[in-house]
Amino acid sequence: MNKAVDVPLKLRESIIDLAEHVERPAPPGADTEKLVSRIKALLKQQNAVIIAHYYTEEHLQVLADETGGHVADSLSMADFGNRHPATTLVIVGVKFMGETAKILNPEKRVLMPDLDATCSLDLACPVEEFSAFCDEHPDRKVVVYANTSAAVKARADWVVTSSNAVDIVNHLKEKGEKIIFAPDKHLGHYVQQQTGADMINWQGFCVVHDEFRAQELKELKEKNPGAAVLVHPESPEDVIELADVVGSTTKLINAARDSKADTLIVATDYGIFHKMKEAAPGKKLLVAPTGGISPTCTMCAHCPWMAMNSLEKLAHVLETGANEIHVDEDIRKKAVVPIQRMLEFSNQFKQAKNKQQPVPA
Ligand code: 13P
Ligand code: SF4
Repeated sequence: MNKAVDVPLKLRESIIDLAEHVERPAPPGADTEKLVSRIKALLKQQNAVIIAHYYTEEHLQVLADETGGHVADSLSMADFGNRHPATTLVIVGVKFMGETAKILNPEKRVLMPDLDATCSLDLACPVEEFSAFCDEHPDRKVVVYANTSAAVKARADWVVTSSNAVDIVNHLKEKGEKIIFAPDKHLGHYVQQQTGADMINWQGFCVVHDEFRAQELKELKEKNPGAAVLVHPESPEDVIELADVVGSTTKLINAARDSKADTLIVATDYGIFHKMKEAAPGKKLLVAPTGGISPTCTMCAHCPWMAMNSLEKLAHVLETGANEIHVDEDIRKKAVVPIQRMLEFSNQFKQAKNKQQPVPA
């Protein structure tokens, strides 16, 4: 059962605006070294740590690693920020990641290189409309993807990421719960198929993953016999059907490392190639085909909002304290509950799995 939701005007306008205004960060040039040293000094001076997503530019990921920061998927970014002693967290990713860090760490300063770096899933799920929809189904548990605003999280019973959505929905199903899942229709459909849970899915989508095309992927597979196909579950169903491995960004990196195949076709943002190359040196990495036309396509396997992060902006926010994330305290107090629930579930689930014990009740 699906809820038909028009792509909100806000999202459509934002995409059109992006196509005209996205400036890809310049590749590292002569001044890069100077800039990097300045950022390193500022990080120390301000007791700050960088937490970056795999989709950001390679030099930002390198800098995060070199300075004791973290490069990760959205679950691990939240977990790391929650545990790290730094008093300033610099979230190099998109806005929902900065908000999650602030919700979990209200006493810390959370900065982001660009506050306009958002996510099409977040934009597709306006809180008023979503909340009214939840009110129509009081018998259902509200499960929202991390890629949502703080206000939407505040309306939820559970937050999930692509790392734990199947496990958490399975857990709810075993307790006899019916579910509202938002906002990603592809992830929702995938979770529904994996768990058999009774779910109503919101109809948002990721503008990057929605572009992957099954027919062209089949053709690419035929040209590369023996290649393994790695797919993020925000991709369309017919693309997921062609996958050898489906999972979160971390799961896909591990699969690249563990796969016996020498060639990997990857249906997610190609920013992930930096960590995949480290994990699977020598393997050939191919971007899965998309519907758009390169090189003008703004969303061909690369998130335009992740691409808004740059070294220059990072230095600027550390120097000026600009772009601090603030979350209304009432919303924060509500939103922290389903996020903590997810983190606790995931940690217990991991421990139980390691010990081969039954999953938490
Ligand atoms: P992960 O949690 O798998 O890193 O996914 C986040 C995301 O935004 C994917 O598009
Ligand atoms: Fe959102 Fe898609 Fe960008 Fe991930 S890749 S942040 S889901 S728009």
